[in-house]
Amino acid sequence: MIQLIRGFKDILPGEIELWQRIEAEAKSLFEAFGFREIRIPIMEKTELFKRSIGEETDIVEKEMYTFADRGGEMVTLRPEATASIVRAYIQHKLYAADPVQRLYMIGPMFRRERPQKGRYRQFTQIDAEIFGVASPLADAQLIFLLVTLFARLKVADVEAHVNSLGCPACRPDFRAALQAMLTSVGGSLCADCSRRRERNPLRVLDCKVPSCRAALAGAPSILDHLCRECRRDFDELQAALSGLGVGYRVNPRLVRGLDYYTRATFEIQTGALGAQSAVAGGGRYDKLVKELGGPDLPATGFAIGFDRLAEIAGVGAAGLQPRPDLFLAALGPESRSLAFDWACRLGRDGVRVEMELGEKSLKSQMKTADRLGAAHVLMVGETELNDRAALLRNMQTKEQIRVPFEGLAERIKTLLDAR
Ligand code: HAM
Repeated sequence: MIQLIRGFKDILPGEIELWQRIEAEAKSLFEAFGFREIRIPIMEKTELFKRSIGEETDIVEKEMYTFADRGGEMVTLRPEATASIVRAYIQHKLYAADPVQRLYMIGPMFRRERPQKGRYRQFTQIDAEIFGVASPLADAQLIFLLVTLFARLKVADVEAHVNSLGCPACRPDFRAALQAMLTSVGGSLCADCSRRRERNPLRVLDCKVPSCRAALAGAPSILDHLCRECRRDFDELQAALSGLGVGYRVNPRLVRGLDYYTRATFEIQTGALGAQSAVAGGGRYDKLVKELGGPDLPATGFAIGFDRLAEIAGVGAAGLQPRPDLFLAALGPESRSLAFDWACRLGRDGVRVEMELGEKSLKSQMKTADRLGAAHVLMVGETELNDRAALLRNMQTKEQIRVPFEGLAERIKTLLDAR
């Protein structure tokens, strides 16, 4: 049989309840903080990702699903959401009414990485972006949101890492210092890093190859090279986090895998996922809106790896499975046709209702009701047809009452609503 593509996955009933719970928690939290949902296409012109994420990144160099469509245009399945949200912000002039926009989206992303635990080729992100706010309080608010969401979902073993990547005024200084150091350890770098050393040395700090990690042990820290404004913002971010009671660790190696960042970057890391330690990552990208053709407006944001979050959430899917309020057990064609009519009416009115549509013994129907965990069973067979009243059993207390056929659906709804 044809199996799904490697690195892709199905999310089945039984797991989906947890996904729905996470999604609902995220949405309610975002909305409380003034975020509004935006839906963006799954595919964009390849150029958009090249220009925003950066040509010398793993994502653009090796991981994008890029192809010429039938008209010959180069298109790419989105590997992340920020580029598209920035494009939409500019294209629809969302800044015109108010440059400050808080936007979020939840949806699939595509990166052709080597699949392993916590790493997939199609994965889902929960992404949030704040446009038009230069204050580091926006970064602090985003980190606070992440920490709050993770606490609500009972995620244990997570730590916020923060760093500053400086700005065009101070980064060249750090870049030069790093480059000098990389030249001195040249021989021990992997092929990618040797190549990137000249054009994009910061990427080397992000390399996961053990020999590169070892070679970088004595690398200079960006934090020693920040200009006054970057230093001030980074201090303010830390003060805001401390004020909010958010624990964090300053990690000067946190350069992130995308080139658009300036100043604050952050990740939520966990020890629970083996090599895939980042459950969420983000930061400020104050130059990107302008670089992509928009006004000179700052922005900051994050994305959560939904799949990873679902794997470490302390709230499990168990207990989240929906149970029917009512199971209709009918014996014989006449009862079944009555029950079918009631089931459809009750379902329409929002009662969770189930019944066997085929012919089954009463015993088998009761078994199904038990398996589904139905709160009540409504039985109708020959005796009930004669009495023109069905039997309603509360499966927990075993208490039974008779409910007349006349106006049955309405009566049942009233009875169930009263509980
Ligand atoms: P990112 O760090 O590339 O950032 O991805 C964010 C999160 O997506 C990661 O921390 C991880 O949890 C999850 N993720 C990434 N790749 C995979 C994968 N192959 N399988 C499973 N999960 C994965 C961004 O994408 C930025 N757009 C975040 C951002 C928003 N920065 C500013 N605004």
